[in-house]
Amino acid sequence: MFLVTGATGRVGGRVLARLVERGLPVRALTRNPGRARLPAAVEVAAGAPGDADAVAAALTGVTAAFVVLVGDVERQAREFAAATKAAGAPRRLVLLSSSSVLHPVRHRIGDEHREAEEVLSGVVEEWTCLRPGPFHSNALWWAKSIRETGEVRCLIGNRPGSPIDPDDVAAIAVRALTEPGHAGQAYPLTGPQVLTSGDQVRILARATGRPIEFEVASEDEAVATFAAVGGDRAVAEGNVAALRSRQVPWGWPTGVTEQLLGRPARSFHSWAADNVAAFR
Ligand SMILES: NC(=O)c1ccc[n+]([C@@H]2O[C@H](COP(=O)([O-])OP(=O)(O)OC[C@H]3O[C@@H](n4cnc5c(N)ncnc54)[C@H](OP(=O)(O)O)[C@@H]3O)[C@@H](O)[C@H]2O)c1
Repeated sequence: MFLVTGATGRVGGRVLARLVERGLPVRALTRNPGRARLPAAVEVAAGAPGDADAVAAALTGVTAAFVVLVGDVERQAREFAAATKAAGAPRRLVLLSSSSVLHPVRHRIGDEHREAEEVLSGVVEEWTCLRPGPFHSNALWWAKSIRETGEVRCLIGNRPGSPIDPDDVAAIAVRALTEPGHAGQAYPLTGPQVLTSGDQVRILARATGRPIEFEVASEDEAVATFAAVGGDRAVAEGNVAALRSRQVPWGWPTGVTEQLLGRPARSFHSWAADNVAAFR
């Protein structure tokens, strides 16, 4: 049995679908089973990765788990680790971490994922860590303003990066969950091509067939927006400084995605074509 957390999300949802397509037994952990709308073949367990009792129950009979932590990442990692010890399972764990752990600028996103990696690597026999850069699907943050006003006001600046398709991350996760040879590895994953946010918006404009205005928000505005969501101004300042830094570790393609998949990584162009309806 495979356990997938974040199973209603961007990467977890694709991991779940890929395991189901292969006819493998899958259990999904979700906070809202009633709203999850998961494939009929999936067993559903109620709970969150940060609820050790729910996780321990969900780990019964599980040999490999795909773990996605969103929100209070460090606390959730500690609870998941406690549950793993209590359940004596799984043997294999694949963690969705982030390439922010490789960032030379210290910031909260990197710190919390680094801590999660450390906590979870010690509790299973076989551990694999995926460290992707930004997902193509982050463009969905702009979908409402593109639909409603034809504009993007970009909070993360306009530095070059190599965004990755969440489905490519999922495909690699499934390999690590089901194949030998990935234990102890930490994979830095990027997409195939260097693009700025402005380049991505131009690609979206071509896909929708409509012009889109692109503007970079000031650093102050970005900090205020992040602080309003996360509640902590100092944390927001650190995260914005790292995201807008010239030194982002996802600034160039690593080639690891292609090596692991044995095919080209999916481009932002093809993601935009597949998801164009969200922007019209
Ligand atoms: N977005 C990126 O560019 C990027 C890049 C690298 C790494 N990452 C990392 O990848 C992971 C997934 O990120 P994502 O933004 O793509 O997630 P997501 O797919 O939007 O969310 C995954 C799932 O997490 C659960 N969830 C959402 N908010 C939560 C909360 N506050 N507390 C507990 N559970 C919550 C939801 O599942 P249920 O409602 O079903 O429980 C959701 O479906 C994160 O650890 C992120 O740091 C993201």
